[in-house]
Amino acid sequence: MNNSDIVFDAKHIWHPYTSMSQPIPTYPIVKAQGSELIMADGKKLVDGMSSWWAAIHGYNHHVLNQAVIEQLQKMSHVMFGGLTHPAAISVCRQLVEITPKPLECVFLADSGSVAVEVALKMALQYWQAKGEKRQQILTLRHGYHGDTFGAMAVCCPENSMHSLYKGCLPKHIFVDAPQCGFYNQWNHHYLSPIERTLSVYNKKIAAIILEPIVQGAGGMRFYHPNYLKGIRSLCNHYGILLIADEIATGFGRTGQLFACDHANIFPDIMCLGKALTGGYMTLSATITTRHIADTISDGIAGCFMHGPTFMGNPLACAVANASVKLLLENPWQKTVTKIEQQLIKELAPLVSHPDVKDVRILGAIGVVEMRAPVNAVELQKKFIKQGVWVRPFGRLIYVMPPYIISSEHLSKLTEAIKKVINV
Ligand SMILES: Cc1ncc(COP(=O)(O)O)c(C=O)c1O
Repeated sequence: MNNSDIVFDAKHIWHPYTSMSQPIPTYPIVKAQGSELIMADGKKLVDGMSSWWAAIHGYNHHVLNQAVIEQLQKMSHVMFGGLTHPAAISVCRQLVEITPKPLECVFLADSGSVAVEVALKMALQYWQAKGEKRQQILTLRHGYHGDTFGAMAVCCPENSMHSLYKGCLPKHIFVDAPQCGFYNQWNHHYLSPIERTLSVYNKKIAAIILEPIVQGAGGMRFYHPNYLKGIRSLCNHYGILLIADEIATGFGRTGQLFACDHANIFPDIMCLGKALTGGYMTLSATITTRHIADTISDGIAGCFMHGPTFMGNPLACAVANASVKLLLENPWQKTVTKIEQQLIKELAPLVSHPDVKDVRILGAIGVVEMRAPVNAVELQKKFIKQGVWVRPFGRLIYVMPPYIISSEHLSKLTEAIKKVINV
């Protein structure tokens, strides 16, 4: 990669959430190995982001590589309409086994956002099949569920750029974000806002969608398991479906295999993505109960109305299969707890810094919330100088490293955070 490549990139290639006329710097990565990203000039960066929650086993993992190679030699893709294949069957079998009991019908799609679209469509088709006009979704402020239209409509209306599309998006119902932190003292009154809303609108609501326990891109907020438990009870009481978007939290990130496990509840529909393939390829899964699947299938359409071209892509399924197996074969919970303990030891003291508002740690996620928004571009430069990859946003400097990170590399990340905020 030479300078003209970088110039071409800046001039012609859109990156996530960036301006084409005034692009922020992008840094060339030519290789990734373990928990390190290797830049074009050979500099190594310890990865604090796991490629946005996905690369839980680190990069260039021989087991995952082998799974892709073996599948590639058999077939890279085949349509899923009317055909099936061993890789899809194996990964779906694993998902049915490891997700909460009543979830047993799996829909495979391409990305997290599409998994959310699928979940919303399942909920709407379910009520249509039952002959009830329930077309609204209830969700939480500070939530994030993706960038496609249906997903945007259930993202926090104030806290995101999705307010740009107001007027073109279906209007759903929002309640205040949960106010009781994960470790705080629980009181039932924290459920009052959602109880009030449900008591008025329950007959119109098809489903509640939420990110269980961790609200990610909408603020990296961790809320109390009893809030989730309370919502499950309210859904039972009013007969409303619960959609758990575990796209970021799934596969151990919060210290439980699924964040729903913190509250010991099961959703009616669960969305998975990101770490499903260990960050190798894009694949998502939306899993529901037999009852919902049967109700949809017995409805007017006689089927569920969705079918992407790359549904059940064999390469993605093969690597997902290997990634889930690798996770379960390893003491992942011990590993995540070890990361959590180290993050607590090294980041928690920052809470006494005058510019720091809060420090939150849960599982393999460490968040330092500043009192004022940070200059992300400047901080990133400073992080790179120190040999780490951390991408702050808003007031948040946070890490969610690959589970295979060594304690030395993890310390390098936390030391870099201390340095950029001048501890
Ligand atoms: C909770 C949650 N849901 C959905 C998505 C969208 O996933 P994708 O970017 O794969 O479309 C994300 C992505 O960050 C997410 O964190």
